[in-house]
Amino acid sequence: MSGRPGAPRHVAIIMDGNGRWAKRRGLPRVAGHRKGVEAAQVIVRAAGDLGIEVLTLYAFSSENWRRPATEIADLMDLLRRFIRRELGQLAEAGIRIKVIGDYHAFESDVVALIDDAIARTADNRRATLAVALNYGSQSELAAVARDLAREAKDGTLDPESIDESTVAARLSTTELPPLDLLIRTSGEKRLSNFLLWQAAYAELHFTDTLWPDFDADELAAAIAEFGRRERRFGGL
Ligand code: FPP
Repeated sequence: MSGRPGAPRHVAIIMDGNGRWAKRRGLPRVAGHRKGVEAAQVIVRAAGDLGIEVLTLYAFSSENWRRPATEIADLMDLLRRFIRRELGQLAEAGIRIKVIGDYHAFESDVVALIDDAIARTADNRRATLAVALNYGSQSELAAVARDLAREAKDGTLDPESIDESTVAARLSTTELPPLDLLIRTSGEKRLSNFLLWQAAYAELHFTDTLWPDFDADELAAAIAEFGRRERRFGGL
């Protein structure tokens, strides 16, 4: 999708509040995650309609391993189902699927599903859905530091030549447009180890809406508000 004037090219979302959505209804947490997946499906389509080139969703953080095993298993099941149900439509709609994070730590059948989704959509160009799976920004940056140190030690990289572009080129987001807008639902105002480097000049949008209730209208409103912000990137 080509960008529209004033519209963000790259939007990322911290989809928070599934558990509280369920608790308020006296339902188990998994019911909130199920609704969360439905919301994600709606928002992926809406992002395409709004001309967003890249939508990056924080689906599983490297800290989410701290949750009870049963909840992790529920999330993995939902991920399996999401891929099985959505892949055909995403592929047909010209959406490329990209994953950031070390998803190889997941069970082998999930890894195979993800690999297949990436391979089947690799040539799509209309828009990109980047899903953060077992992603943590600090460990991503530490891995870059490790690589740079190794290359400097091997003599293939001059330490004096390292600048912002050297680091950016080694991040998992390197071929994506800069992050324009970062949305977090559920009233929390934190980045929670998500895209710390990439968010340097992103506009931040916090909403009290719990993720399962976040809909196309609210995304459109966030995009409209983004269009009214003045972005100076440190200049005047
Ligand atoms: C936060 O709710 C959400 C997560 C831990 C990620 C789960 C995301 C989904 C189920 C959407 C899945 C999307 C795809 C693309 C498969 P929480 O449990 O932290 O809520 P709480 O803070 O209210 O407890």
